[in-house]
Amino acid sequence: MNYSRIAGTGSYLPAKVLTNRDLEKMVDTSDQWIRERTGIEKRHIAAADETTCDLAEPAARRALQAAKVDSGEIDLIIVATTTPDQVFPSTACLLQQRLDIHGCPAFDVQAVCTGFVYAVAVADNFIRTGSARCALVVGAETFSRIVDWSDRGTSVLFGDGAGAVVLKASKEPGIISTHLHADGAYESLLRVPAGVSKGYDLVQEGGAYTEMRGNEVFRMAVTTLGRIVDETLQANGLQKTDIDWLIPHQANIRIIQATARKLRMPMERVVVTVSEHGNTSAASVPLALDVAVRDGRIQRGETLLMEAFGGGFTWGSVLLKY
Ligand code: COA
Repeated sequence: MNYSRIAGTGSYLPAKVLTNRDLEKMVDTSDQWIRERTGIEKRHIAAADETTCDLAEPAARRALQAAKVDSGEIDLIIVATTTPDQVFPSTACLLQQRLDIHGCPAFDVQAVCTGFVYAVAVADNFIRTGSARCALVVGAETFSRIVDWSDRGTSVLFGDGAGAVVLKASKEPGIISTHLHADGAYESLLRVPAGVSKGYDLVQEGGAYTEMRGNEVFRMAVTTLGRIVDETLQANGLQKTDIDWLIPHQANIRIIQATARKLRMPMERVVVTVSEHGNTSAASVPLALDVAVRDGRIQRGETLLMEAFGGGFTWGSVLLKY
């Protein structure tokens, strides 16, 4: 029986920083409102000519370096993104080309903010069944491209970035379990209601933006994330105290605090980057993971719970020994 284990992590943020003060000049909002309701202080925004693959590449290279893995060893590439560079080829194929990797399967996964958790679950299954031995899994977004910068209800929340992990086959876990869910019935609460085969004129005119009923999404996220935590612990016969670190999707500090309370985890054991990065969708969990690995908080052998919730709705978790 193979397990998959995180061999290395990496991340990358675009240089441009947009602060709450900057947003005060763009919409009717205030630094105080944004901090109090979301915990966000600033976010990074990709330059006009910077694409999702441009963010994914340095994150992937850093993960490869941390894992001490040569790009030639990679036999599976999955990129989780809501904001691919092009309709096709997939961002995973574009990344494969940049890394000079040839022949292995490469594809994108689209589950919005849960995308990275979905992608890790897929890669873990490839490795468990022996179909891959060394996978590169990336969450990368230029979410700023699908934000209406005149809408104060959404523009203050999102940012751009990328995070990556290298997963290697291992005799020991590694990833202990993954739990994925979706319910398309909630489409109207959170969506970009245009794309390629519907509303393409909107896309061409630059009017295909994220629509959200924030309050309802907030309530669903809190309830659903509480449930996924219980499901994950129960599936593995674990107690709340067995979790060393919670690495939540970084959407809103109040959602993160509610999940931590449910786990009875002190906030010192929760990795929080939402203040610095905002909500970077599929990039948020691997970005947070990389920050806490590199600053020495997360140590080998510790038990981590990653969880996310996003458009679809989609939600899921990954329980692992780092
Ligand atoms: N600045 C100032 N005021 C704002 C504002 C902003 N950026 N955005 C909304 N408001 C106003 C509203 O217009 C409303 O005013 P009103 O009472 O006069 O109508 C008031 O603030 C309260 O709005 P409400 O939407 O009820 O606030 P909230 O406490 O629910 O906070 C969110 C709004 C968006 C921060 C919150 O709902 C949220 O985080 N939702 C989840 C978002 C999310 O995580 N999405 C991604 C999931 S992956």
